[in-house]
Amino acid sequence: MHWLYFFGRFHVLLVHLPIGIIYVTVALELLARRPRFAYLASAANFLWACAAVTAVATVALGLAHSTEGGFNPRILATHRALGISVAVLAIALFVLRTQRPRLYQSTQLLTGPVALVLVAATGHFGGDMTHGTSYLFVYAPAPVQRLMGLQTNHKRPTSAAGADVFADVIHPMLLLRCSGCHGEATQKGGLSFATYASLMKGGEDFPAVVPGDLSQSEMYYRVTQPRGSEDFMPRDNKTPLTAAQVQIIGWWIKAGAPGKGTVGSLKPPPQILKLIDQELKSD
Ligand code: HEC
Repeated sequence: MHWLYFFGRFHVLLVHLPIGIIYVTVALELLARRPRFAYLASAANFLWACAAVTAVATVALGLAHSTEGGFNPRILATHRALGISVAVLAIALFVLRTQRPRLYQSTQLLTGPVALVLVAATGHFGGDMTHGTSYLFVYAPAPVQRLMGLQTNHKRPTSAAGADVFADVIHPMLLLRCSGCHGEATQKGGLSFATYASLMKGGEDFPAVVPGDLSQSEMYYRVTQPRGSEDFMPRDNKTPLTAAQVQIIGWWIKAGAPGKGTVGSLKPPPQILKLIDQELKSD
């Protein structure tokens, strides 16, 4: 089983080849329609062969990778169906181009763009699983975020005391540092930080947060382990929470881990209030 996991992870590396090759091939064939660039067309058979071979290999590794589990089944199923259709299309286009060049020529303006759209859509759902659905827009300006449905019309807090303790303080840290593996698309250990409710539901094996009790809160345990320990979160050398963020999370759990209410209403000690203030100013 571990061999499957081992090879499967190369999916995320190899996938760049068919993406690049297919985009270049379609662009090259469009250019080759102009007499000046007609000589480029002679490379297209070879490129479609490369696209087909790398796409099939990518699908095979993707199937191996999916056995690791922890992926949102709906997003995975869509990504898999699209990925397989890219591989099938690449093979079909190679066969058509070599066997029935005239038919290929006459449908090229349709099949090329279809291939591009399929590749982009496949990549979109795959990206959701590796980076989390909000990855691309975490640093986007507020209007762009609203456009992408990432921000409600929630106003940014003007003071630490007036900030909403979960929505403004705790949730953004978890979304930024943890949701790539514990979000809507990927739920490693059965745990999602997508919403307050999913956080409180906890993971497969442990409650992530037990209000008022740090020692039973697996989330706190995980972020306070020595780096390099098996249990340390985030995994895989991803950027960890800062020491200040860990302190704030610890304070919040001890204060009962509420999902609503202002920071001020929990009467934080002055040094925590200061950390929260700095935290809010830093983004
Ligand atoms: C790169 C992927 C990755 C990132 C990022 C990540 N985790 Fe995890 N997490 C995992 C995996 C894989 C597991 C399941 C294996 C395990 O329990 O160690 C897990 C399990 C957990 C569990 C135990 C769930 C259970 O009940 O079994 C907690 C709690 C947790 N993570 C918290 C966090 C926190 C907090 C962050 C952000 C600071 C984070 N993780 C970031 C991959 C990740």
